[in-house]
Amino acid sequence: MTIDTPKYTTTDAGIPVNSDEDSLTVGPNGPIVMHDHYLMEQMAAFNREMIPDRQPHAKGSGAFGHFQVTQDVSQYTKANFLQPGKKTEMLARFSTVAGESGSPDTWRDPRGFSLKFYTEEGNFDMVGNNTPIFFVRDPLKFQHFIHSQKRRADNGLRDHDMQWDFWTLSPESAHQVTWLMGDRGIPATWRHMNGYSSHTYMWVNAEGERFWVKYHFKTDQGIKCMTQEQADHMAGADADYHRRDLFGAIERGEYPTWTLKVQIMPFEDAKTYHINPFDLTKVWPHDDYPLTEVGKMTLDRNPVDFHTQIEQAAFQPNNAVPGTGFSPDKMLLARTISYADAHRARLGVNYADIPVNAPKCPFHSYSQGGRMRISHSTDPVYAPNSKGGAHANPERYPEDAVWQTDGEFVRSAYTLRSGDGDFNQANDLVNKVMDDAARDRLVNNIVGHVSDGVEEPVLSRVFEYWKNVDQTIGERVEQGVMANRRENGQ
Ligand code: NDP
Ligand code: HEM
Repeated sequence: MTIDTPKYTTTDAGIPVNSDEDSLTVGPNGPIVMHDHYLMEQMAAFNREMIPDRQPHAKGSGAFGHFQVTQDVSQYTKANFLQPGKKTEMLARFSTVAGESGSPDTWRDPRGFSLKFYTEEGNFDMVGNNTPIFFVRDPLKFQHFIHSQKRRADNGLRDHDMQWDFWTLSPESAHQVTWLMGDRGIPATWRHMNGYSSHTYMWVNAEGERFWVKYHFKTDQGIKCMTQEQADHMAGADADYHRRDLFGAIERGEYPTWTLKVQIMPFEDAKTYHINPFDLTKVWPHDDYPLTEVGKMTLDRNPVDFHTQIEQAAFQPNNAVPGTGFSPDKMLLARTISYADAHRARLGVNYADIPVNAPKCPFHSYSQGGRMRISHSTDPVYAPNSKGGAHANPERYPEDAVWQTDGEFVRSAYTLRSGDGDFNQANDLVNKVMDDAARDRLVNNIVGHVSDGVEEPVLSRVFEYWKNVDQTIGERVEQGVMANRRENGQ
């Protein structure tokens, strides 16, 4: 028998305590003595249990698993973890965007699709969504966009008028808003949705050739969505429905899988393609850039401690390993600095030391010190040095995920190309992809959403916005909203 059997309560220092129930007092009816440091430890730890929510994407959960390469894409990337047959341990976290940590999983919202691959050449993070596009294309608008989707300053309420005010003044949002108001705006579960990088990234092969790439993680469970009515019911019946579903499925041994496919664009095509391939509000039509299969992601291990493994997980799009890199997408470039900053604010400067965030390969960073540092610094603590310390290796790891650019500093939208209208692809989605029944549900979803609190001058702009997407859809939205208003005596 070890000293730990059976388990006795201890202080945080491992010292056995005398009681789980009674504080130390002067006689049974007297005051608590100041040196009851165990009571103090319990109260103090409790008072510090909460950490700030993530600003967006606060409500979510995740699981561990692995990614197995099944095809050969070595002609496009030299990334070690994407070489044929390679298997890499990973973490996934799914989330809603606008809600707080306790908010219902089934609110209409994009879903986050964050992946961390613990590769032999450092952590590769793909911090995507379940949609292939986004609401804005310039990072200066991101903060305003998120504010408009969250809560008002005065009454702390969410407000559809504020949401539509921002969207209708930002016509580049039309594609994403059409997607959001359609069936896929509320997935049945996280297992039944796709994940997309949304952004265009770069791949570089062993010869130094560069390609533009978009990642599509296609669910092998099939797409399933909830209707607005089902989602509204579930928001009250089980606010944690998606979190519960993923945990339960893995616990039952029903491991969800996704097939990774990529769209690959030759480097030079980007200069002349009729759509700006770096504009986050656009997809690359599959007819032009078909999907190439890469491998399979399987989630097969639940967290055992939600706080340390999921809440403290820190994903950052700048985690790009050799053979992968960024693109001129302005949103992506801003994200390469925003996330690490958010982690320092939320988790502290040494967030990368938290086991779920630490690389699983040897690493030799020169960062040191700071609060809660756990990984050891070693001498020499500077570079260059002649003492056998780590040194960069540009021959093996050249700065090759790069592109050429030139110009004056400006504050300007991307230069327009012939296929770059704000409404074209929203129209494709309505008319090429949706059938009559899906269009009916789209109109109903919009009418319901807009009828809930949207007033002039925003209201007229909503009708105009939808007529720009599709004249008939716009007219149907207007008729539906005006009928509801008449019924409500407005
Ligand atoms: P395709 O017909 O080749 O592809 C249509 C795509 O739409 C498929 O990826 C399908 O996903 C997806 N889809 C089906 N129903 C919906 C829905 N209700 N909401 C959102 N997506 C849906 O067409 P194109 O590539 O020419 O693109 C046409 C339009 O399809 C685009 O404007 C875009 O809105 C949408 N789309 C395009 C994607 C792309 O990367 N090209 C990706 C996703 C959507 P699945 O195969 O998983 O069922
Ligand atoms: C979370 C910023 C665009 C997907 C976050 C967080 C910040 C942020 C600060 C909180 C991070 C944390 O505290 O852990 C931004 C900025 C953007 C942007 C500045 C644009 C300029 C996007 C886009 C996508 C996306 C386009 C998807 C393609 C996510 C996801 C999370 C997240 C999935 C949750 C990460 C997790 O699971 O921990 N974003 N974001 N974001 N963002 Fe973004």
